[in-house]
Amino acid sequence: MSIFGLPLSVTARAGTNIALVKYWGKRDVTLNLPATGSLSLTLANFGSETTVRFAPDAEATEGGDCISLDGAPAPPRFAERVIRFLDLVRREARVGLPAEVATRNSVPTAAGLASSAAGFAALALAASRAAGMNLPPPELSALARRGSGSAARSIFGGFVEMAAGVHRDGSDACAQALLPAGVWDVRLVVAITSDAPKAISSSEAMELTAKTSPYYAGWLQAVPQDLAAARAAVLAQDLPALGGVAERSAMRMHACAMAAEPPILYWNTATLAAMETVRRLRVAGTEAFFTIDAGPHVKVLCAARDAARVEPALAATPGVLRTLVLAPGPGAEIVREERR
Ligand code: PMV
Repeated sequence: MSIFGLPLSVTARAGTNIALVKYWGKRDVTLNLPATGSLSLTLANFGSETTVRFAPDAEATEGGDCISLDGAPAPPRFAERVIRFLDLVRREARVGLPAEVATRNSVPTAAGLASSAAGFAALALAASRAAGMNLPPPELSALARRGSGSAARSIFGGFVEMAAGVHRDGSDACAQALLPAGVWDVRLVVAITSDAPKAISSSEAMELTAKTSPYYAGWLQAVPQDLAAARAAVLAQDLPALGGVAERSAMRMHACAMAAEPPILYWNTATLAAMETVRRLRVAGTEAFFTIDAGPHVKVLCAARDAARVEPALAATPGVLRTLVLAPGPGAEIVREERR
């Protein structure tokens, strides 16, 4: 916003995060309120950087906002989600100007590697600051949640817990830091098993699961215990305890989705093969534990020193296309602010 004549251009970055206790289901679709809490790990060097500027001369097409993704005009579905989010920020900040938004992702978009988590966390920070708001982290987290449930967690670094909240307005449905990056030296080794975009978005899949899966009630009932166990494991830095919860949370989420009508199955044969690799590693004495999101990729939690054993085992698994080794990272942060 223009306080000294020129509008403020704000660049923010955020890392993606991977849930170890999954969020799957909403208590309010309009406000994007989760039905349960969740727990995740925010990752370094694997996220989104976004520049936002609200200005009368924002280069708008057809009188709207100008949205670019990785240097090209953004695809319509991406642009629509960003514009809906900008409208929210404009309402809260009482700003009536069009915006320029330039996003760069270092996460493959919509491949089940949570580009939306990093994207909306960076956008929430950049857009709110560019609109003249200076939100404290819990409010920023609640704002990011409106773009994507998992984005609320990427406001914070390291291990993060998201609360379902009880208020109808969602003001307490926000995340908080549990253990900052740098304290516990773990890795997430990602086995990428497909380059195809996901068949069904997580929001659609959650809604279908909630409406039709006979296991949804059981899922909701089980999450609070998993959350308590995972929180205790993080605070005690107990890898087998955390890994055990992470595997059962992922299996229960997918079992619940598979029981929907029509069934939702995100896995492919390489997903199953990678899960088997993790079990074999464990039998051979390496503490490694998988989780799987709304896609076919397998993410494996292990100690930093064991990543050199886990990565080649996953890379050699039939059907695994590539692997990535990711470390815990910081929360969303401002990269640059300038008046132009
Ligand atoms: O934030 P969304 O709406 O993309 O949903 C995220 C869903 C999962 O990634 C499968 C689980 C989670 O908690 O991140």
